[in-house]
Amino acid sequence: MTDDAILFGGTANPALAEAVARELGISLAPCTVERFPDGELSVRLGRSVRRREVFVLQATAPPVNDHLMELLSFADACRRSAAARVIAVVPYFGYARADKREGRREPVTASLVAALMETAGISHVLTVDIHSAQMEGFFRIPMDTLSAVGLLCGALRGRLPEGTTVVSPDAGRVKTASEFAERLGLPLAVLNKHRESGTRTRVTHIVGDVRGRACLIVDDMISTGGTIVESAEALRGAGASGPIVVAATHGLLMGDACRRMAVHGVEEIVLTDSVPVRGAEGPRVRTVTLAPLLAEGIRRAAGEPGTS
Ligand code: R5P
Repeated sequence: MTDDAILFGGTANPALAEAVARELGISLAPCTVERFPDGELSVRLGRSVRRREVFVLQATAPPVNDHLMELLSFADACRRSAAARVIAVVPYFGYARADKREGRREPVTASLVAALMETAGISHVLTVDIHSAQMEGFFRIPMDTLSAVGLLCGALRGRLPEGTTVVSPDAGRVKTASEFAERLGLPLAVLNKHRESGTRTRVTHIVGDVRGRACLIVDDMISTGGTIVESAEALRGAGASGPIVVAATHGLLMGDACRRMAVHGVEEIVLTDSVPVRGAEGPRVRTVTLAPLLAEGIRRAAGEPGTS
């Protein structure tokens, strides 16, 4: 980390911001975030950022719009205070799934978010396991996507049941699932998923043999748990009989996601701390921290000699 760099932590994930600062051997820069009764928010930087490289760590996690607006406000404050560069460290990137139009008369909200970030003065984005790689194409500024697959595999290695198959819950996750399978030395199966609404999906095909096998379903994120529930049901229907374990980078776990997954036989979920993981009844939840990965990403983006 260069002496010049400053790190602010937003309110989406204060524990992760503190952990990243500890990894970097610095303190978080002082700031105030206030929410008014009418829903507006106000951000105040507690120190000068003039001609400095400023990192703002903020997951655009639920409530997504509030946390996004907070990140944009931080960036605007930095830009107006003459920061040299504003680097947004976004461990979870909300709206990344809205990267194409499913039908007519719809927005591409991910592209709108990219434009808003640039307008607010963000000059570089650092994120983790974003929903799809084409997201990068929405930005004209540099965007780096770090991968948590190595961390998640480290947490799974030696702890999976005998005869486990890695399962991709849809076509979009095949590349990631292949990486898990390769790193863990396990076979791969792929489900074809059809999304019927924001909360309902249906598995139409299974490629690969899961009969009599335990399954490790891997995904970038778990929101309502619908994808995992449908996948678990389809795998059981195809003869999978061992425990079902899930690994995902972003555990939003909205509503009763944990309980629903437990009901459908998910025994354990391994997540990162990209968003604060809520304790809930359901499968055993283990988390691995992104702090060292993000700290290394920040060091590289800050251009510390010998690390790029
Ligand atoms: C979809 O393509 C994503 O990769 C996830 O599978 C999905 O968004 C998870 O959402 P939910 O838990 O609500 O099914």
